[in-house]
Amino acid sequence: MPRIIEEKDLKKPLLVSDEGLKEVGLVKRAEDILNDEDIEFRTFLDVQPNPSIENVEDGYSRFEEYDCDSVICLGGGSPIDAAKSIAILAANDGDIIDYEGVHAVENSPVPIIAAPTTAGTGSEVTPVSVITDEENNFKFTIYSHKIIPEVSLLDPDLITSLPADIAASTGMDALTHAVEAYLSKVTNPFADALAEKAMELIGKNVRKFVADRKDNEAASSMLLGSMFAGLAFSWGRLGNVHAMAEPLGVYFDIPHGTANAVLLPVVLDYNALADKGKYRRIYNYISRKEAEGFSPGLLAEKVYELNEKLGNPGSLSELDVDPDCIPEMAEDAMKSGNVKINPRQTDFDDICRLYQKAL
Ligand SMILES: [Fe+2]
Repeated sequence: MPRIIEEKDLKKPLLVSDEGLKEVGLVKRAEDILNDEDIEFRTFLDVQPNPSIENVEDGYSRFEEYDCDSVICLGGGSPIDAAKSIAILAANDGDIIDYEGVHAVENSPVPIIAAPTTAGTGSEVTPVSVITDEENNFKFTIYSHKIIPEVSLLDPDLITSLPADIAASTGMDALTHAVEAYLSKVTNPFADALAEKAMELIGKNVRKFVADRKDNEAASSMLLGSMFAGLAFSWGRLGNVHAMAEPLGVYFDIPHGTANAVLLPVVLDYNALADKGKYRRIYNYISRKEAEGFSPGLLAEKVYELNEKLGNPGSLSELDVDPDCIPEMAEDAMKSGNVKINPRQTDFDDICRLYQKAL
C-alpha cells in the first residue's frame, strides 16, 4: 500500500472502514503499515452496514475537515461503497443522491484504493456504489466508470479472519454476480468469459473456504473469483435476484449476501424456462460431479444443496420476513433496472410470487 500511495503522490488519504474491522484488528494493521512509512492519513471508521446518505455525508465531512486528497477503503461492500460516494462528493458539488443512475457523475472522484475484506461484493472493481435513502426507505445505485477504484489490493490474509456465516453469505453474493451476469439479456462474450472464470473459481473453492477460512489457496481463489464476478456484472449486469435482494435489506436489514443466497435458487427455478443451454454449464461449475441426464430444474436443486452445505438460511421465513410486506417490496424491486434484463420476462405479480415462494 505505501508504494502505491507514493507512486500516486497521495498526500493525505482518508482510511474508510467500519467498527467490526477495527475490532478484529484489520484497521490497526492498515494503520501500522501507514504509520511505519510516515504516511499522513485520517480515519473514518463509522461506516454502517448498508451505508445511508447521512453516513456518506459524515464521511465526507471528515474528508473535508482534514483536507484529505484520496480514500483508502478497507472492508466489505459497505465501506467500499461509502468510500466511492465520499470520493464523488470530494470532487463534485451537490448531494450524493444527485449522482443516482447511470453516468451521472461529472468530475472524476479523488483517487480510490480498495482492499476487500470479504470475497463477495466485487465492489473493489465495479463502477457501482449502493447507498440507502433512509427517509424514503429505498436503496439507490450510482453507476459510473469514474468510480472504479484506481487500485485494488487483493490480499488473502484480509479474509482469513471472516466468520464462517459471513464467508458463506458473501461467497453466494459473488456466485450470484457471476450467474446473473452470465444469464442476463444484455450479456456479451466478454462478460460471459469473466463469469465463467468466476464460477470456476468460486464453484471449486467456496465449500473449502467456508469450512476453513485459513486455507490460503481457497481464500486467494475466492478473492479472484469475486473480482472476476464483479467485472462480469459490470459488463453483463444482473437480474431478479439483485432486484429483489435490495428491498429485503431495506425492510428487514437482511445482509445483501444472505438475501441473494436465499433468492438465487428460487429465481433460477423461475428462469429455467428461458434457459438456452447455459444452465448445464453453471451446474458443472458448482457441482462436484458432472450432471447426467441434465434438465434445467436440477440447477436450482444444486444451489439449495450448496446453501445447506455452507450453512446459509434456506428460506425468508427463517429470516423473519413478514409476508404482508411483499407487495411493497415487489413495488421497489420493480423499480430496479435489473428486472428488465432478467432472462425471463417478469412483472409485478411474478415478483410477488417469487418472494412468496422464497418464504
Ligand atoms: Fe451483490
